[in-house]
Amino acid sequence: MSRIVIISNRLPVTIKKEHNSLIYYPSAGGLATGLNSLDSSLDKIWIGWPGQEIQEEQEQKAVQEDLKKSGLIPVFLTNEDTELYYEGFSNKVVWPHFHYFTQYTTYRDDYWEAYQRVNRKFADVVIPQLRDDDLVWVHDYQLMLLPAMIRAAFPKISIGFFLHIPFPSYEIFRILPWREAILDGLLGADQIGFHTFNYMRHFLSAAYRISGYEHNFGKLKVGNRLVNVDVFPMGIDYETYAHPKLDDSTITEDVKYIETLAKDRRLIISIDRLDYTKGIPQRVKAFAQFVRNHPEYHRKVSLVMIVVPSRANVDQYKELKQEIDTVAGELNSTYGSFVWTPIKYFYRSLNFRELTTLYRLADVAMITPLRDGMNLVAKEYIASKEDNKQGVLILSEMAGASNELLEAILINPQDMNEIEAALVEALEMPLEEQRTRLESMQEKLKKYDVRHWANTFMNEQRKLMESQLITQTNILNEAEQGKLIAAYKNAKKRLIVLDYDGTLMNFDPDPQAVVPDEALLHILTTLQNTENNKLIVSSGRDRETLQTWLGAIGMDFAAEHGVWMKRGGNWKKPAGITAAWKPQIRTVLENLVERTPGSFIEEKQYSIAWHYRRIDKDLGEKRVREFRDVLRYLTANLDLQVLEGNKVVEIKNAGVNKGKAILNWLNDDEYDFILAIGDDHTDEDTFRAMPETAYTIKVGLAKTDAHYNLLSVEQVREMLEKLIA
Ligand code: UDP
Ligand code: G6P
Repeated sequence: MSRIVIISNRLPVTIKKEHNSLIYYPSAGGLATGLNSLDSSLDKIWIGWPGQEIQEEQEQKAVQEDLKKSGLIPVFLTNEDTELYYEGFSNKVVWPHFHYFTQYTTYRDDYWEAYQRVNRKFADVVIPQLRDDDLVWVHDYQLMLLPAMIRAAFPKISIGFFLHIPFPSYEIFRILPWREAILDGLLGADQIGFHTFNYMRHFLSAAYRISGYEHNFGKLKVGNRLVNVDVFPMGIDYETYAHPKLDDSTITEDVKYIETLAKDRRLIISIDRLDYTKGIPQRVKAFAQFVRNHPEYHRKVSLVMIVVPSRANVDQYKELKQEIDTVAGELNSTYGSFVWTPIKYFYRSLNFRELTTLYRLADVAMITPLRDGMNLVAKEYIASKEDNKQGVLILSEMAGASNELLEAILINPQDMNEIEAALVEALEMPLEEQRTRLESMQEKLKKYDVRHWANTFMNEQRKLMESQLITQTNILNEAEQGKLIAAYKNAKKRLIVLDYDGTLMNFDPDPQAVVPDEALLHILTTLQNTENNKLIVSSGRDRETLQTWLGAIGMDFAAEHGVWMKRGGNWKKPAGITAAWKPQIRTVLENLVERTPGSFIEEKQYSIAWHYRRIDKDLGEKRVREFRDVLRYLTANLDLQVLEGNKVVEIKNAGVNKGKAILNWLNDDEYDFILAIGDDHTDEDTFRAMPETAYTIKVGLAKTDAHYNLLSVEQVREMLEKLIA
């Protein structure tokens, strides 16, 4: 089993300098608490920031030694790094932006520069630690550039990335000036995981619209690699909350106070880090509305609100603290009395005993973030009810956890009336219903706990590595290329059939812009002029274009997907081919263009094509679906065929294809070396027409009848360069 290397901004322990000595505290927040509860038996190391500037070399060494005992490796950041990378880019750009708080996004280049610099700093600590067979797992929004940096140093190592916060919709993400670099950084990973399907969907849409990566069931082809994008909702360490291990020494005054309070009245709890995403002021306002409209609950109910200090140096967090102080103070001063405080508000963190006591004794948990990647507090609350089966969860629809905790009372956190009604419903819910709802959620949380989350993520990552290897067995690797080149050199008569677009040249939104470059002309001229070679360019293009671009070289052509053939200098076409049907089909396609601005018609002598390369892929595919039936109906009567290519639909005479065309050459001569390369499914006809001994190569990884794959036009060019060398 390979070693796991976890990398996150924050280590599970945070160091604080107190009276000149270093004190180690557990870190707060979902990432640290969740990952820290993974199996201790796993062979793992964890690399991250210890949360405190440590300048002195001696002190750094001491910290390194201390942390090493727990398998932790520190990345030391200066106060400047913290200010610009952590508080700056991470928490004033990415955090607000990805949580849809674009009014807080701060567009500063010095933040971005620091983000790149500190991601590099992490890479410099990580890379010397790595072994080839490690499973690397990078976490969260502070380190989105790291996967590509590790990939550059270790091209074959297995890298996973998990985003613990939402990935915003494309319309939001695209606003970031650094959007492309962020995507490139993330796509250095083999696997990218999100908490929910929506975040995954948004990421795939951004990767396509911004960087042009298309996906097939969540798999993206990035250079020579496949990147798997998938949903892995994070769970909790269920048993820890279901049956907390507590000894009497942890009973503090506060724990006793909570216990006494719970005997006196019904408790509603809310626990979050101080963060504007958590909707804390809105929650207090909703509770105030409930208190105002429901005097029958006065003195009977209190909201215990724990706000855990977080990111206190970031302005918005400071302002938020004041806002919460004000709204909570107002509520108590308006409705409180000597005997009743409606809201008991604490700005502090809790130890495990206090936390689990609150969970266990609370009648209702009110968890109403405006946006939240997952929200583990909601899950921990449910698990803590394992024994007594009493308690109701009110949960925001905007939390990732709401996708799983469907038996909670789900609310819109901006809808005060809905929250007020939810509070009444929760406080009045019959015990039997509470039990049924809890049991159903507990069953899920028990099964899909944090170990299940980590194991599925890592197993998928391992499987991916294996499948990368399997796919790559068909890749024309160096050894196989060596054999091909030797066969070429030794052959007495060679047939070489090359597709043009997507094989020799990359696609362009404007088909007329794909003019051959010097390097390609050199390759083709050399192939053509080599003795005993028969070179054919077999393309869907019209014969005029092929003739203009490549005619001077003197090779043979199969144009218009095999309608026209140029052999020994003369163009010919099979008998029975007509163009009489074209006006009728053109009318249909013109209607298609009118309804789909940006698409266009390409008319060839015996075929006609509708291109949608320049428009949104989804819209193009929708139109194809709409028109497929109309075209099929018409073409059946007219003895035509419809070919669906790469963002193009082409209509032409039935019974003509690249495979049939190539038979003319195959039947005419004996070849002891045959090579055919193509990228789309019109080339599959060529592959199928070839004898078993031919070298057939598909560009890309789609299903194919070819014997081998190459991944890109660049790889095809490299291979041909070697052939003519
Ligand atoms: N938590 C903590 N200290 C506290 C109170 C809570 O560390 O004083 C933990 C809590 O148990 C939970 C995590 O912090 O595991 C919060 O995770 P969540 O996903 O709810 O929110 P995040 O802080 O990650 O936004
Ligand atoms: C969220 C983030 C984590 C982060 C945690 C605490 O859970 O997803 O990456 O560690 O909040 O925030 P902090 O800034 O204190 O690390």
